[in-house]
Amino acid sequence: MKIAIVGATGLVGRNIIKQCERLLPQDAEFHLFASSKSAGGKLTVNNEDLVIKELNSENIEKYDIALFSAGGERSKTFAENFTSQGSYVIDNSSAFRLHEEVPLVVYGINQNEITSTTKLIANPNCTTMGLVMALKPLHDKFNLVSMTPVAYQAVSGSGSEAVSSLKKEESLDAKSLAEYKDGYYTRPIARNVIPLAGNLLDNGYSDEEMKFVHESKKILGIPELVVEPSNARVGVLTGHGVFCSAVFENEINTDEAIQELNNFEGVQYWSETLATPLDAENKYDVLVSRLRMGLSSSKIINFWCVSDNLLKGAALNAVQIAKHLVQK
Ligand SMILES: NC(=O)c1ccc[n+]([C@@H]2O[C@H](COP(=O)([O-])OP(=O)(O)OC[C@H]3O[C@@H](n4cnc5c(N)ncnc54)[C@H](OP(=O)(O)O)[C@@H]3O)[C@@H](O)[C@H]2O)c1
Repeated sequence: MKIAIVGATGLVGRNIIKQCERLLPQDAEFHLFASSKSAGGKLTVNNEDLVIKELNSENIEKYDIALFSAGGERSKTFAENFTSQGSYVIDNSSAFRLHEEVPLVVYGINQNEITSTTKLIANPNCTTMGLVMALKPLHDKFNLVSMTPVAYQAVSGSGSEAVSSLKKEESLDAKSLAEYKDGYYTRPIARNVIPLAGNLLDNGYSDEEMKFVHESKKILGIPELVVEPSNARVGVLTGHGVFCSAVFENEINTDEAIQELNNFEGVQYWSETLATPLDAENKYDVLVSRLRMGLSSSKIINFWCVSDNLLKGAALNAVQIAKHLVQK
């Protein structure tokens, strides 16, 4: 079996390598791609040093699966070079997520949408992915109608450059930090919260907020779901947190809700300890805590969930899909 990892040098790509080592057959043959900047360098996969190739249309062969995490432009330009040669493409970018014919798959929720004719599979947005994992068992039991998610997105969600910026900013004294203008974001992120994650759109919402709106509907199969999102960027390295107020068609009780969460593979309810991004880092599961009834209705629950944006939010989910394809 031949696996291509496109964007292998990035934060997601490096995690994809680790998850492939853990979840895919040990005899799989790996091919690593990145930009011309990294070409010729090496990364280790299953104890073997592999040379990184430049991604260009000349050196793409037939692979069984190509895992893309090199940004939307690379996906748009090169995904077809892979699929046309018979490879599945699992894409971490937002390039194809809302294309009707492309399944938007969270492993554990809707991997059965992959059919015999599927070639391209989109991996959802990292913040949305954690939240829908918590919502799915609740929706199955109580029927989700609307939600107000408020996200606290970690810096590693923006890639390696943002992480370098956070590290630099963390070394500055308070005065220099307050005046710092050369960071990755529009405002300093170390010791800070920026009340905007992603790019602002004409409707006053950010593209990250609109991913909650569109992707949740598609993944959960609820086209009429009402979503009122707000996303902030916080000075946390890894682990996207979301406070969510969710309205259901049916009456809820918290004991049943917690039982549903704990029975769902990939989700843990933490009742004793508050689940924080530090707890979520390097964990495969989505952690939920502070679940409580709404103050105004017995059909509302409010909860907190947090997950590793590089794992279930990206690399883990992508490789879980790859494993699913291998076993099909
Ligand atoms: N970070 C997250 O939590 C997260 C979660 C879900 C989805 N995603 C998506 O995953 C993708 C990668 O994110 P990341 O956080 O890993 O970013 P990153 O750390 O900045 O890595 C970017 C990767 O893309 C490669 N790349 C850039 N330009 C290229 C080009 N012209 N040709 C070939 N490769 C090129 C880079 O290679 P070089 O090292 O050679 O430049 C690197 O391997 C993005 O589409 C992002 O939206 C990220």
